[in-house]
Amino acid sequence: MAQPKRERVGELVITPRPLADYRDMFLLTDDDLTAGPILDCPGGTSPFGAQVRRRGGTVVSVDPSYDVPRAELAERSAADLKTLMAWAAANPDNFDWSYLGGPGVVDRYWQTAAELFFTDFEPDGERYVPALLPSLPFTDGQFRLALSSHLLFSYPEYLSFDDHLAGILELVRVTAHEVRIFPLVDTAGAPHPRFDDLLAALAEHGVSTEIRPARASYVAGGDQLLVCWRGGS
Ligand SMILES: C[S@@+](CC[C@H](N)C(=O)[O-])C[C@H]1O[C@@H](n2cnc3c(N)ncnc32)[C@H](O)[C@@H]1O
Repeated sequence: MAQPKRERVGELVITPRPLADYRDMFLLTDDDLTAGPILDCPGGTSPFGAQVRRRGGTVVSVDPSYDVPRAELAERSAADLKTLMAWAAANPDNFDWSYLGGPGVVDRYWQTAAELFFTDFEPDGERYVPALLPSLPFTDGQFRLALSSHLLFSYPEYLSFDDHLAGILELVRVTAHEVRIFPLVDTAGAPHPRFDDLLAALAEHGVSTEIRPARASYVAGGDQLLVCWRGGS
């Protein structure tokens, strides 16, 4: 039987997944949103921080793209959404449409999410910090939770094994409770070829890990998150 056609997106895109998606990807409860400061890295054009602040929580969003002028970021975000929609149209078997609804739904939903982001976004160096893994300008344990969606594991063509290890260790360094990473497959739905080696290397650095089923699924097979924390269980 012919295998479904699966191709990676081919670019490291900027996306705007909103709070509802973050709840599903990271199994966030209402208490999680306000129990302590949250790091969103990479934040992209996600309105997650803005939406959580409206609920009384504290979020710092980190992304290297926050040091480009606002108009340029808006243009890149819109162009990347078009790239994603063209990729989805050419590779419909990549996606879990039972979660996403359909290409038109995602397009409208994400345009709205990006608009919400730009009503809040200012490159203020406090709520929105231009920085990149594996080196974050924060103190040890500064955040209660760190959330990392659609960078690690999603883009093995841009991030090496060492980039993954150093990036996760840095997220763990700045986090007191848990680091949650989603998804565990690349943009074509393939698991990371050295996933088990990575978990073993994290264990050698004293980092415990657990894979949990998520409530979100964008690409086929991408319905799990990795939870990491310093120390034993
Ligand atoms: C696909 S977006 C994910 C945004 C958001 N978390 C979401 O799920 O919609 C990936 C983001 O990673 C950012 N990025 C690229 N390299 C990075 C790095 N080394 N550290 C942190 N962010 C990075 C890009 O600028 C881009 O905005």
